[in-house]
Amino acid sequence: MHTQTTLSQYLSEQQQAGNLNDPGLLAVIEDITRACKVISERVDRGALGGVLGTTDNQNVQGETQAKLDVLSNEILLAMNERSGLIAAMASEEMEGIHPCNKDQHKAAYLLLFDPLDGSSNIEVNNSIGTIFSVLPHPEPGRVPTEQDFLQPGTNQLAAGYVIYGPATILMLTLGQGVHCFTLSRSVGEFVLTRENIRLPETTSEYAINSSYQRFWEPAIQRYIEECLQGEDGPRGRNFNMRWVGAMVADSHRILWRGGVFLYPRDRRQPPKPGKLRLMYEANPMCLLFEQAGGAGTNDTRRILDIQPEKLHQRVGLIMGCKEEVERIVRYYKEQ
Ligand code: AHG
Ligand code: MN
Ligand code: MN
Repeated sequence: MHTQTTLSQYLSEQQQAGNLNDPGLLAVIEDITRACKVISERVDRGALGGVLGTTDNQNVQGETQAKLDVLSNEILLAMNERSGLIAAMASEEMEGIHPCNKDQHKAAYLLLFDPLDGSSNIEVNNSIGTIFSVLPHPEPGRVPTEQDFLQPGTNQLAAGYVIYGPATILMLTLGQGVHCFTLSRSVGEFVLTRENIRLPETTSEYAINSSYQRFWEPAIQRYIEECLQGEDGPRGRNFNMRWVGAMVADSHRILWRGGVFLYPRDRRQPPKPGKLRLMYEANPMCLLFEQAGGAGTNDTRRILDIQPEKLHQRVGLIMGCKEEVERIVRYYKEQ
């Protein structure tokens, strides 16, 4: 008899086993993933669901918002603000924080998300996703401020993503390993399909957008050049390259079969500290990677240790198999 363990069953089993003693957090995860099921249903319909195309407005990132960016953001806000569990939310698509209306000041959690990651992939039907991060409200009982969100990634109570690909898959960590759940459309639930995901120690696959090669700093030039030299070069083996253009898709592949993801700081003017955002892209993803035995750095500093100064601050990001990340950190130090 094939027993399918749903996300709800898994979370309550973990609670009963004493592995998790935070029932409020489990309910928050249920609400976030329920919102992602609604987003998945809309994504699944593509043009028939009216989710393609862009709006006329720009977000705080200076990027034109896709319709699905806005819709996903609205779904996550609507399905997480009434539980009374979340004090406030922050999103890539909103300049300021969004205080939740129901007794917000008493709630224990802050929720951050990139509602739709990989927006440039929407029109061309490539994988996209939602990334989320849960932080503790530092002082339940008072209305949260933006300052309350500026906590290092080590403070995260939970992090994960849902990738809307051929299958809709949730990758989740509550600080006790990384677990994978596949959406069963017939059941309407995320079902546990892989527990305790571990990154392989080594890899021969890297992910970077090579069109910016002329802007890379010496450490990245050196690392990629050595990969390109293959078995005749200093690495003594050939490397493969993949770049999907959606962090959730590249990250999912790396969590599944190994690899290293690079979106480094580069020399484009004005000097960009990197493209990806610390609070709701790098931090949740690096918590997943570390929980799976990998690593995540900005150049020489561990991403999760960075003390945020601004809600939407960007960072350079190198994450994946520990051996490769450590090599790149060494190259930055020697740079
Ligand atoms: P978003 O769509 O949320 O803005 O994120 C896109 C990010 C990330 O998902 C991806 O890895 C990166 O942008 C791709 O950047 P390039 O298009 O410069 O390759
Ligand atoms: Mn993104
Ligand atoms: Mn986004």
